Amino acid sequence: MNLHELQNQITKLKSSLETDLSSGGDLNAKYLGKKGLFNELAKAIQQVGPTDRKAAGQLLNELKTDLEQTTSSQTSVSQSRETETDLTMPGLKPKVGHIHPISQAMEEIVHIFEKIGFTIVRYPEVDWDWYAFESLNMPPTHPARDEWETFFIDLPDTTKNIPYDVNNPRARHPSVAGGKILLTPQTSNGQVREMERLGKPPIRMINIARCYRRQQDATHTQMFHQFEGLVVDKGINIQHLKGTLDYFAGQFYGAGTKSRIRPFHFQFTEPSFEVDFSCHICHGTGVLKNGDKCKFCKSGWHEVGGAGMVHPNVLKAGNIDPDKYTGFAFGWGIERTYTLQAGLNIDDIRLLYSGDLRFLEQF
Ligand code: FA5
Repeated sequence: MNLHELQNQITKLKSSLETDLSSGGDLNAKYLGKKGLFNELAKAIQQVGPTDRKAAGQLLNELKTDLEQTTSSQTSVSQSRETETDLTMPGLKPKVGHIHPISQAMEEIVHIFEKIGFTIVRYPEVDWDWYAFESLNMPPTHPARDEWETFFIDLPDTTKNIPYDVNNPRARHPSVAGGKILLTPQTSNGQVREMERLGKPPIRMINIARCYRRQQDATHTQMFHQFEGLVVDKGINIQHLKGTLDYFAGQFYGAGTKSRIRPFHFQFTEPSFEVDFSCHICHGTGVLKNGDKCKFCKSGWHEVGGAGMVHPNVLKAGNIDPDKYTGFAFGWGIERTYTLQAGLNIDDIRLLYSGDLRFLEQF
């Protein structure tokens, strides 16, 4: 190769670089990389005669500087081209969320009870003590109230001068006496409210609402949800309660899930029960197919809440004659009921309210 041919090669290389649209990294590798076009051309210096070698070396040096400057300026042009906004491009769809898993569970529960004729209501979450406790057969100083670990609003108690009378529960009704105000620790405040709303049976209610208690651990939150069932009519008995529990278990957890009631004590039901549903993993046996103990339930059953036959004093507080009518009631935590569904494996209900999208987006 003589100097003239080298010059021609250099001109070609430069004009090829000027029109090259490769992006930054590629451009550099193609022209200045180890196996790049510059090094290929530089090898040709060996073919140049000894008298022209010095001039050829100079030409190649100039070419290298030229290539370095051009690749770097073309790289910044291509980068700015990449960040330019193309207004003709179709827009990006905004990310759409979904309703919270507890709201999903509430919708499902509402649907299940609507199918068998229950009316869905939502009673106050800030209410009079009278609806949350006193009308539910819990006199002002009754120790059973302690179980609810209630948040009270810091206002004077206006009922102090009216004595509590078990035979006249409406004597201290808030419309007469006002009273203490609280954040409802249970949806049972809806029982007498529904009796008052309808005036007389038949009653078939689901009160679904937020509740508040001074509790916080893996199975308790300070704010949670309950749903309260209340049925009052002539001739209502425990079989109706048990049938309703079995119906719900099959609908919410799947066919084959059984319910179980165990004797318990609530002031507002007599008799009272704790309600369990059979475990979907070991099917109520407590033992897995391989003989191991079921770790999910330990005993074959999960407790979800309470139930019982409405106490006559509660019917009286709602102006309903307990000699004519009977009823049943139940109240369950939605978080607890929901997290027992097959496949969820949520072992800490506080996660539901953590606001962590990585958790919530899984539902
Ligand atoms: C009651 O609240 C009764 N009102 C239930 C009832 C209604 C009995 C009608 C009879 C007739 P208990 O305190 O056990 O009962 O609460 C019921 C359920 O609410 C519990 O089993 C649990 O699932 C849920 N629960 C209670 N406290 C919390 C909490 N802090 N966090 C989450 N869930 C809770």
